[in-house]
Amino acid sequence: MLLFGVRHVSRTGLPRCMVGRLHRNMTSLPSHYTIPSTGHRIPAIALGVWQAKPNEVGEAVKTALKAGYRHIDGAWIYRNEAEVGQALRDSGVPREDVWITSKLWNTFHAPEDIEPTLDDSLAKLGTEYLDMYLIHWPVAKKDGQPYDKDLTENPYPTWQKLEEMVEKGKVRNIGVSNFNIRRLENLTANPLKIKPAVNQVEISYWVPQVELLKWAKENDLLLEAYSPLGSTGRVGDTLAVPEVKEIAQELGMTPAQVVISWHIQRGTVVLPKSVTPSRVVENLQVRALPPALFDKLEEAATSHKPYPRLNPSKGWGLDFDIFD
Ligand SMILES: NC(=O)c1ccc[n+]([C@@H]2O[C@H](COP(=O)([O-])OP(=O)(O)OC[C@H]3O[C@@H](n4cnc5c(N)ncnc54)[C@H](OP(=O)(O)O)[C@@H]3O)[C@@H](O)[C@H]2O)c1
Repeated sequence: MLLFGVRHVSRTGLPRCMVGRLHRNMTSLPSHYTIPSTGHRIPAIALGVWQAKPNEVGEAVKTALKAGYRHIDGAWIYRNEAEVGQALRDSGVPREDVWITSKLWNTFHAPEDIEPTLDDSLAKLGTEYLDMYLIHWPVAKKDGQPYDKDLTENPYPTWQKLEEMVEKGKVRNIGVSNFNIRRLENLTANPLKIKPAVNQVEISYWVPQVELLKWAKENDLLLEAYSPLGSTGRVGDTLAVPEVKEIAQELGMTPAQVVISWHIQRGTVVLPKSVTPSRVVENLQVRALPPALFDKLEEAATSHKPYPRLNPSKGWGLDFDIFD
């Protein structure tokens, strides 16, 4: 099978003006993107570790690093940072060669709560700094309490504290996750010292996020695609999409490789999760789809009926929809 891992393809980050654009004519996929606000180079593929259980997440991280991944997408709430950190140290890969992302949980948005929870993540991961720290969800809510309306609607005080964490050297880049366009515009209407580096959102065949992708391109914001294979509940459906299967057959790739390649070709970072060693390796072997095949998959993904996305609003007892 003639496939190329991202580490073997062009190492040039995308020019600022191309971030978020659909790259139908690419002949090779970028291994990294350049973050417009800092110029830092972020690897295009990460191993996602949500729902990676104890005693399996560490092995997955070690398999990934051995296979060539240099980007781990984690979060404080995944409750596996200590095992991830141990695996990073055991791997022997120098700390500065790996991009580590963690996320600020909803209960810690008050400025005084941020540095202690960040320090907890740093201690568990066994590192002095994070490459990226994201506001995990646009909801400020302590357990058992109503949500903080002011801080949820305008998270500027949270953001200012995150900027301070950058100044202190504990974090290199800050960004957001699960923000819609309205929330991005609200946040960036404040006099930010540092613009959000990324917005990490659900993007998949089922939730292609065409409008957000267009907005991100126009506003120089990099998107990260979470649940890129459709997440546990829909991965089987994604890999069985006729267009995905046909393209895989034609190019001698697996369906998962076709989907992951398509994400990068759309201009987003992609975060597939797997704890299965063969799949961890498989998911890194990507290549650009020929324009006609890219267009075929893009057309299929953007023309089916809308599918519900991950939305915890009700489960968290909120009286509003997070995505409104
Ligand atoms: N910011 C947020 O709010 C947020 C929300 C959700 C997710 N995320 C991030 O995004 C990452 C990925 O999202 P996700 O875990 O929801 O979904 P996903 O990566 O789309 O799907 C993961 C599922 O696909 C399976 N899988 C992986 N590679 C496969 C392959 N090559 N062939 C067949 N099956 C394969 C995995 O199984 P095995 O593991 O058993 O191999 C697992 O069941 C998370 O780990 C997390 O880092 C962020």
